[in-house]
Amino acid sequence: MDLINSFNAPIYEFETIDSTNKYAKIFCTTNPKNGTIIISNEQTNGHGRLGNSWNSSKGKGLYYSIILKKEFKNLKYESLTLFISLGITKLLEDYSINSKIKWPNDILINDKKVCGILCELTSNNNGEFIILGIGINLYHEKNDFPSEIENKATSLKLNTPQPIIRNYFINSLTNYLFKYYNYFISYDFENFLHEYKKKSYLLNKEIKINLNNENINGIVYDFNSEGHLLLKTHDKKIISINSGEVSLRNTYKNNDHK
Ligand code: BTN
Repeated sequence: MDLINSFNAPIYEFETIDSTNKYAKIFCTTNPKNGTIIISNEQTNGHGRLGNSWNSSKGKGLYYSIILKKEFKNLKYESLTLFISLGITKLLEDYSINSKIKWPNDILINDKKVCGILCELTSNNNGEFIILGIGINLYHEKNDFPSEIENKATSLKLNTPQPIIRNYFINSLTNYLFKYYNYFISYDFENFLHEYKKKSYLLNKEIKINLNNENINGIVYDFNSEGHLLLKTHDKKIISINSGEVSLRNTYKNNDHK
Protein backbone atom coordinates (compact mmCIF):
# COMPACT_ATOMS: atom_id res chain seq x y z
CA MET A 1 0.00 0.00 0.00
CA ASP A 2 1.30 3.47 -0.91
CA LEU A 3 1.62 6.22 1.64
CA ILE A 4 -0.81 9.09 1.13
CA ASN A 5 -0.59 12.52 2.73
CA SER A 6 -3.98 14.11 3.39
CA PHE A 7 -2.19 17.47 3.80
CA ASN A 8 -1.22 17.18 0.14
CA ALA A 9 2.45 17.63 1.02
CA PRO A 10 5.49 15.40 0.44
CA ILE A 11 6.41 12.35 2.51
CA TYR A 12 10.10 11.52 2.99
CA GLU A 13 10.84 7.97 4.05
CA PHE A 14 14.10 6.73 5.51
CA GLU A 15 15.30 3.28 6.45
CA THR A 16 17.45 4.75 9.20
CA ILE A 17 18.10 8.31 10.40
CA ASP A 18 19.39 9.88 13.60
CA SER A 19 16.10 11.59 14.44
CA THR A 20 13.12 12.48 12.24
CA ASN A 21 12.56 15.61 14.35
CA LYS A 22 16.15 16.71 13.93
CA TYR A 23 15.96 16.15 10.18
CA ALA A 24 12.62 18.00 10.04
CA LYS A 25 14.14 20.96 11.87
CA ILE A 26 16.96 21.24 9.34
CA PHE A 27 14.50 20.69 6.50
CA CYS A 28 12.51 23.73 7.64
CA THR A 29 15.24 25.95 6.17
CA THR A 30 13.95 24.90 2.72
CA ASN A 31 10.48 26.28 3.52
CA PRO A 32 8.62 22.94 3.29
CA LYS A 33 4.90 22.69 2.58
CA ASN A 34 2.58 22.59 5.54
CA GLY A 35 2.08 18.94 6.48
CA THR A 36 5.39 17.61 5.14
CA ILE A 37 6.07 14.23 6.74
CA ILE A 38 9.34 12.52 7.60
CA ILE A 39 9.25 8.84 8.55
CA SER A 40 11.95 6.38 9.47
CA ASN A 41 12.02 2.68 10.18
CA GLU A 42 14.78 3.21 12.75
CA GLN A 43 16.38 6.13 14.61
CA THR A 44 19.89 6.09 15.94
CA ASN A 45 19.33 9.11 18.19
CA GLY A 46 15.59 9.34 18.79
CA HIS A 47 14.75 11.72 21.59
CA GLY A 48 11.81 12.69 23.72
CA ARG A 49 10.86 15.49 26.05
CA LEU A 50 13.17 16.73 28.78
CA GLY A 51 16.25 15.25 27.18
CA ASN A 52 15.03 11.66 27.39
CA SER A 53 15.93 9.24 24.64
CA TRP A 54 13.26 7.42 22.65
CA ASN A 55 13.79 3.74 22.03
CA SER A 56 13.76 3.54 18.22
CA SER A 57 14.70 0.00 17.30
CA LYS A 58 14.49 -1.06 13.70
CA GLY A 59 11.10 -2.11 12.39
CA LYS A 60 9.45 -2.15 15.82
CA GLY A 61 8.02 1.31 16.07
CA LEU A 62 6.86 4.19 13.94
CA TYR A 63 9.12 7.25 14.03
CA TYR A 64 7.18 10.04 12.41
CA SER A 65 7.53 13.83 12.24
CA ILE A 66 5.16 16.27 10.63
CA ILE A 67 6.01 19.90 9.89
CA LEU A 68 3.22 22.39 10.50
CA LYS A 69 3.58 26.05 9.64
CA LYS A 70 2.72 28.43 12.40
CA GLU A 71 0.66 30.53 10.07
CA PHE A 72 -2.32 31.68 12.11
CA LYS A 73 -1.34 34.52 14.40
CA ASN A 74 -4.56 34.36 16.43
CA LEU A 75 -4.30 30.66 17.35
CA LYS A 76 -3.00 29.39 20.67
CA TYR A 77 -0.58 26.76 19.45
CA GLU A 78 0.00 25.47 22.98
CA SER A 79 -3.21 23.48 22.66
CA LEU A 80 -2.20 21.79 19.38
CA THR A 81 -0.68 18.72 21.04
CA LEU A 82 -3.85 18.28 23.11
CA PHE A 83 -5.90 18.04 19.90
CA ILE A 84 -3.31 15.74 18.34
CA SER A 85 -3.20 13.40 21.34
CA LEU A 86 -6.98 13.17 21.29
CA GLY A 87 -6.78 12.28 17.58
CA ILE A 88 -4.30 9.51 18.34
CA THR A 89 -6.61 7.96 20.94
CA LYS A 90 -9.32 7.92 18.24
CA LEU A 91 -6.94 6.18 15.84
CA LEU A 92 -6.26 3.52 18.48
CA GLU A 93 -10.01 3.02 18.95
CA ASP A 94 -10.05 1.79 15.33
CA TYR A 95 -7.84 -1.03 16.64
CA SER A 96 -10.27 -1.66 19.53
CA ILE A 97 -7.77 -0.14 21.94
CA ASN A 98 -8.89 2.08 24.78
CA SER A 99 -6.01 4.43 25.44
CA LYS A 100 -5.62 7.38 27.79
CA ILE A 101 -3.82 10.68 27.53
CA LYS A 102 -1.28 11.40 30.23
CA TRP A 103 -1.19 15.17 30.00
CA PRO A 104 0.46 16.81 28.26
CA ASN A 105 1.48 14.40 25.54
CA ASP A 106 1.87 10.73 26.36
CA ILE A 107 -0.58 8.04 25.29
CA LEU A 108 -0.97 5.06 27.62
CA ILE A 109 -2.66 1.70 27.41
CA ASN A 110 -3.37 0.06 30.77
CA ASP A 111 -0.91 2.37 32.55
CA LYS A 112 1.89 1.74 30.05
CA LYS A 113 3.22 4.16 27.48
CA VAL A 114 2.60 3.33 23.84
CA CYS A 115 3.15 6.73 22.22
CA GLY A 116 5.00 9.95 22.96
CA ILE A 117 4.72 13.29 21.22
CA LEU A 118 7.58 15.76 21.04
CA CYS A 119 6.56 19.22 19.87
CA GLU A 120 9.43 21.48 18.83
CA LEU A 121 9.52 24.97 17.38
CA THR A 122 11.92 26.37 14.85
CA SER A 123 12.00 29.62 12.93
CA ASN A 124 13.92 31.10 10.01
CA ASN A 125 13.42 33.68 7.23
CA ASN A 126 10.45 31.69 5.98
CA GLY A 127 8.58 31.92 9.25
CA GLU A 128 7.88 29.71 12.24
CA PHE A 129 7.38 25.97 12.08
CA ILE A 130 6.10 23.42 14.54
CA ILE A 131 7.56 19.95 14.36
CA LEU A 132 5.36 17.30 15.84
CA GLY A 133 7.42 14.20 16.44
CA ILE A 134 5.37 11.10 17.16
CA GLY A 135 6.83 7.81 18.34
CA ILE A 136 4.46 4.85 18.48
CA ASN A 137 5.40 1.36 19.61
CA LEU A 138 3.85 -0.92 17.01
CA TYR A 139 5.28 -4.42 16.96
CA HIS A 140 7.26 -4.83 20.19
CA GLU A 141 6.98 -7.99 22.19
CA LYS A 142 7.53 -7.55 25.90
CA ASN A 143 11.20 -8.51 25.75
CA ASP A 144 11.91 -6.14 22.86
CA PHE A 145 11.97 -3.22 25.30
CA PRO A 146 15.17 -2.43 27.19
CA SER A 147 14.95 -3.56 30.81
CA GLU A 148 14.66 -0.01 32.19
CA ILE A 149 11.34 0.57 30.38
CA GLU A 150 10.11 -3.01 30.15
CA ASN A 151 7.47 -2.45 32.83
CA LYS A 152 6.47 1.01 31.67
CA ALA A 153 6.14 0.53 27.92
CA THR A 154 3.76 -1.37 25.70
CA SER A 155 3.00 -1.73 22.00
CA LEU A 156 -0.10 -1.92 19.84
CA LYS A 157 0.65 -5.53 19.01
CA LEU A 158 0.51 -6.45 22.68
CA ASN A 159 -2.96 -4.90 22.94
CA THR A 160 -4.94 -5.79 19.86
CA PRO A 161 -5.72 -8.95 17.93
CA GLN A 162 -6.08 -6.84 14.78
CA PRO A 163 -3.19 -6.90 12.33
CA ILE A 164 -1.19 -3.68 12.14
CA ILE A 165 -0.27 -3.10 8.54
CA ARG A 166 2.42 -0.48 8.67
CA ASN A 167 1.53 1.72 5.69
CA TYR A 168 -2.19 1.43 6.37
CA PHE A 169 -1.53 2.50 9.96
CA ILE A 170 0.62 5.44 8.83
CA ASN A 171 -2.08 6.62 6.41
CA SER A 172 -4.72 6.40 9.15
CA LEU A 173 -2.47 8.34 11.52
CA THR A 174 -2.00 11.07 8.91
CA ASN A 175 -5.76 11.22 8.30
CA TYR A 176 -6.43 11.66 12.02
CA LEU A 177 -3.70 14.29 12.31
CA PHE A 178 -5.26 16.17 9.39
CA LYS A 179 -8.70 15.93 10.95
CA TYR A 180 -7.59 17.08 14.41
CA TYR A 181 -5.31 19.79 12.97
CA ASN A 182 -8.36 21.16 11.20
CA TYR A 183 -10.36 21.00 14.43
CA PHE A 184 -7.52 22.93 16.07
CA ILE A 185 -7.72 25.61 13.37
CA SER A 186 -11.50 25.85 13.50
CA TYR A 187 -12.52 25.40 17.14
CA ASP A 188 -11.47 26.39 20.62
CA PHE A 189 -10.12 23.59 22.77
CA GLU A 190 -13.09 24.17 25.06
CA ASN A 191 -15.30 22.37 22.52
CA PHE A 192 -13.21 19.22 23.01
CA LEU A 193 -12.74 19.48 26.73
CA HIS A 194 -15.47 17.02 27.58
CA GLU A 195 -14.04 14.41 25.22
CA TYR A 196 -10.51 15.15 26.40
CA LYS A 197 -11.49 14.61 30.02
CA LYS A 198 -13.02 11.24 29.17
CA LYS A 199 -9.63 10.23 27.77
CA SER A 200 -7.58 11.73 30.57
CA TYR A 201 -5.34 9.39 32.51
CA LEU A 202 -4.60 11.89 35.25
CA LEU A 203 -8.01 13.29 36.15
CA ASN A 204 -8.77 12.72 39.86
CA LYS A 205 -5.37 11.17 40.45
CA GLU A 206 -2.82 12.29 42.95
CA ILE A 207 0.28 13.51 41.19
CA LYS A 208 3.61 15.16 41.70
CA ILE A 209 4.59 17.79 39.18
CA ASN A 210 7.98 19.33 38.74
CA LEU A 211 7.63 23.06 38.16
CA ASN A 212 10.77 25.18 37.85
CA ASN A 213 12.73 22.59 39.81
CA GLU A 214 10.17 22.49 42.58
CA ASN A 215 7.92 19.51 43.21
CA ILE A 216 4.26 20.24 43.85
CA ASN A 217 1.84 17.55 45.01
CA GLY A 218 -1.89 17.58 44.53
CA ILE A 219 -4.90 16.07 42.88
CA VAL A 220 -5.76 16.70 39.26
CA TYR A 221 -8.98 18.56 39.72
CA ASP A 222 -9.81 19.48 36.15
CA PHE A 223 -8.49 20.91 32.88
CA ASN A 224 -9.45 24.43 31.84
CA SER A 225 -10.69 25.73 28.49
CA GLU A 226 -7.10 26.25 27.35
CA GLY A 227 -6.03 22.75 28.27
CA HIS A 228 -4.09 23.75 31.38
CA LEU A 229 -4.03 21.18 34.15
CA LEU A 230 -5.77 22.38 37.31
CA LEU A 231 -4.11 20.98 40.38
CA LYS A 232 -5.73 21.08 43.79
CA THR A 233 -2.98 21.22 46.37
CA HIS A 234 -3.28 19.88 49.89
CA ASP A 235 -3.97 23.36 51.21
CA LYS A 236 -6.93 23.49 48.78
CA LYS A 237 -5.39 25.99 46.40
CA ILE A 238 -6.11 25.48 42.70
CA ILE A 239 -3.05 25.98 40.52
CA SER A 240 -3.25 26.21 36.73
CA ILE A 241 -0.29 24.53 35.06
CA ASN A 242 0.52 24.76 31.37
CA SER A 243 3.55 22.48 31.19
CA GLY A 244 5.59 20.19 33.35
CA GLU A 245 6.71 16.68 34.08
CA VAL A 246 4.05 14.68 35.90
CA SER A 247 4.50 11.56 37.96
CA LEU A 248 1.77 9.63 39.72
CA ARG A 249 1.38 9.24 43.42
CA ASN A 250 -1.56 7.18 44.72
CA THR A 251 -4.67 6.64 42.67
CA TYR A 252 -7.47 8.78 43.95
CA LYS A 253 -10.62 6.76 43.74
CA ASN A 254 -13.49 9.20 44.05
CA ASN A 255 -14.53 12.77 43.47
CA ASP A 256 -14.93 13.79 47.10
CA HIS A 257 -12.42 16.55 46.80
CA LYS A 258 -14.58 18.48 44.30
C1 BTN B 1 8.34 11.70 24.64
O1 BTN B 1 7.66 10.76 25.03
O2 BTN B 1 9.06 12.35 25.41
C2 BTN B 1 8.28 12.08 23.18
C3 BTN B 1 8.85 11.01 22.30
C4 BTN B 1 8.87 11.42 20.83
C5 BTN B 1 9.60 10.44 19.97
C6 BTN B 1 9.47 10.78 18.52
S1 BTN B 1 9.98 9.48 17.46
C7 BTN B 1 9.89 10.53 16.08
C8 BTN B 1 10.45 11.88 16.52
N1 BTN B 1 11.90 11.90 16.41
C9 BTN B 1 12.48 12.01 17.59
O3 BTN B 1 13.73 12.05 17.79
N2 BTN B 1 11.58 12.08 18.55
C10 BTN B 1 10.23 12.01 18.03
